[in-house]
Amino acid sequence: MAQYVNKRIFVSDLTPGLEIGKAVVTEEGTVVLTEGSILTPSLIERLRQWGILTVYIRKEQDTVSAPESGAPNIQRLFADQYEGIVAGVRKSFETMRYFKEVPLEQLKELAEASVEVLSDAIGALNHLQLVKRQDDYTYRHSLNVAVITGVLGRWLGYYGMEMKNLILAGLLHDVGKTQIPLEVLNKPGKLSPDEMELMKKHTTRGYNMLRELPGITQGVLYGVLQHHERMDASGYPIGVPGEKIHPYAKIIAVADIYDAMTSNRAYQKSVSPFDVVQMLTQEMFNKLDPEICAVFLNNVRDYFVGNIVELSDGRNAEVLYIAQFVGARPIVRTADGEFIDLEKRKDLTIVNVLKT
Ligand SMILES: [Fe+2]
Repeated sequence: MAQYVNKRIFVSDLTPGLEIGKAVVTEEGTVVLTEGSILTPSLIERLRQWGILTVYIRKEQDTVSAPESGAPNIQRLFADQYEGIVAGVRKSFETMRYFKEVPLEQLKELAEASVEVLSDAIGALNHLQLVKRQDDYTYRHSLNVAVITGVLGRWLGYYGMEMKNLILAGLLHDVGKTQIPLEVLNKPGKLSPDEMELMKKHTTRGYNMLRELPGITQGVLYGVLQHHERMDASGYPIGVPGEKIHPYAKIIAVADIYDAMTSNRAYQKSVSPFDVVQMLTQEMFNKLDPEICAVFLNNVRDYFVGNIVELSDGRNAEVLYIAQFVGARPIVRTADGEFIDLEKRKDLTIVNVLKT
């Protein structure tokens, strides 16, 4: 008689007809699919919408290489998938730099088939924190912005083709940087005023690279052109006011700032997601769309409860609670059992996220 084992696989790799090997449970503990359910196209789509990244599938023993053991490591699965997509982004961006061609179909496929899966994963923003690396900054930043744009888009109620186009706009937002000389793009240290002006051209150059392509939507074009425009008309390339900025560009602007600030770069020390939330609240409210900011901040706050963080006095602590108002500092419990309300202890800050 055939022996059966459960094998953990990505929801993106599921095909109709497979049998669920273990009940699928959401983060909140709700069972959404019972053991023995046979997958249909609509069930697979629903798993994606629920934000489930992987499930156990029942398979005959001899069709799998080895039984799975130990607890699943969702973060590792996320990281593996992420690295594969970075390689695809690198290839596409290098084609644009060296061959002056835009492989739009490949980029669309990456955005639709792969990036959206990462965006839908429960804890996507936390996982992104753990795949940060110094190399390949432009490619990683493009992918991160696409994932964050997808997460934010979902919180804002985007779905279907709108969501796919929004994620594509996030992936392509800095595509014009492939037309900026590498010595300026990768310069460690401050750019000269002339170099800064050249760098700012990545918005219009990106727009020009894409605008003639068949099948590109206005939203994607304006997301690329306007992601550095600001509500108070202080942005570039034109300096248009908020009402003339496309919603995609406003969403990408928030994702772009969040990722740039939480990434390690040679010339700019990264700050923790908590500091970014503070910064977005205090300094960017007149520059970024307040509604988009509020949705982002409110949801991000929920994300960080349970994280293990490092405090500025060197102690590790768990985030227990973050108040409802945007920009609030959390209550934490240190490893030695002390409860600290960071709203009252302004001398202490969170300097690093150690575990999510
Ligand atoms: Fe940019």
